Order: sequence, then structure tokens, then C-alpha cells
Amino acid sequence: MKNCKIAPSILSANFAKMGEEVRSLQACGADVVHCDVMDGVFVNNITFGLKMVEDLRKITSLPLDCHLMIVHPEKYVERFAKAGADIITVHYEACQDNLKEVLQLIKASGAKCGAVINPDTPVEKIADVIPMCDMVLVMSVFPGFGGQKFIVGALDKLREVKAIVDACGKEIDIEIDGGVCEENVALVKAAGANVIVAGSAVFKAKDRAAAIAALKEA
Ligand code: DX5
Ligand code: ZN
Repeated sequence: MKNCKIAPSILSANFAKMGEEVRSLQACGADVVHCDVMDGVFVNNITFGLKMVEDLRKITSLPLDCHLMIVHPEKYVERFAKAGADIITVHYEACQDNLKEVLQLIKASGAKCGAVINPDTPVEKIADVIPMCDMVLVMSVFPGFGGQKFIVGALDKLREVKAIVDACGKEIDIEIDGGVCEENVALVKAAGANVIVAGSAVFKAKDRAAAIAALKEA
């Protein structure tokens, strides 16, 4: 299996201390910083945007993985790339027929690109664009909030995505996001995920380094 990366979601961080929080993640062994961008329209919550990414870029060398939960992502992907996003993922549900073009736009902006599907969207909807992705993100909760329960149906979708990725023979990461914790992380890895998003499992832990190590080694 590919090297497993832990991507703590800063949605569960203290927003008033974001710089310290991200430095702490890096010191505690995180591999990636997962940035949940929400616009209050595509999802029922609002988080942060370009300026946060731009400022975090200056204080960490970890890759910034920007998960855009916004309508019309095509309007913003170039600016997220410019702000310092290493990888930008966009939802099938926000792009629909445009998905291929939005992914191309991300690539042309110099960032890596990824497609995301919600728990009620079948893998077949993105099957044709998987070969052009650097990463595929399978949601295991409905997006909007941290701390929700893992939806088990995501495991079958991970296996489906893995089969497509293996068949196309390219280096494509498979990310899982939502409700992942020490108890279920071995299952998601076995199903094919190699980039593990964890919000509450990291930020609610007394010892973040131990929590990250436990997720990595499970
Ligand atoms: C949900 C976000 C997730 C979330 C994960 O909309 O995309 O990244 O923060 O948090 P946990 O790990 O607590 O489910
Ligand atoms: Zn996310």
C-alpha cells in the first residue's frame, strides 16, 4: 500500500489561534493540513477563505489541502492556487457537467487537483475524471460540520475508487474525510484510502502527537 498520510482538518482547531494550531500539527507529525473552505451556500456552515490559506502558507511547510465546499468553485480555484494551496479538491455536486473543466483549471493554475463525492453520490459520476486527478476524496459524512459519525457505505466506495485507480496505473491518492478515528482507521486503509482526514480525532485528543501516530500506524 502507498504511504499513508494524516491530514488533520483545521475545522476543529481554535480559529483564534490558527497559527499556533498549525505549527502544533506540524510538530506533532501531521503530513498535510486539510483546509475546509465553506461558503454557507453549498453547505450550511461558513469557515474561512483565501486569506487564511495565504497566511498559513507563510507559517508552515506542510502541504495545504484545500477542500472547497463552495458553489461556483471555478471562480476561485486560481486564487486558491495563488494563495498557496498545494492541492485543491472540488465537489462533483458543485460542478456537475463542469467538473472536468474545473479540474483542468486547477492544474493550469499550478496546483494538484482532486474530485470529491458526497455520501449519496455514486463513484460512477466521477469515474471518467479519476485518471486526470491527483487525488480522489470520498466523503464519509455529509459535508458541513466536524464531529459527525462515519458512514460505513464509504468503505465500498473507497474500494470502487481503488479499483479504478489501480486500473489506470497512475499515482493517484485516495482521501477519506469525515468521522475517521482510531477505531475505524484500519478499515478505511484496508479499503484503499491513503490520505486520512481527521478533525475531532486529532483536536479533541489530549496528546495530538500520539493521536496522529495512532492513526498512522493502525
Ligand atoms: C466536513 C469536513 C471534514 C471534517 C472532518 O465537512 O470536510 O474535513 O472537518 O472532521 P471529523 O474528522 O471530526 O469528522
Ligand atoms: Zn474536509
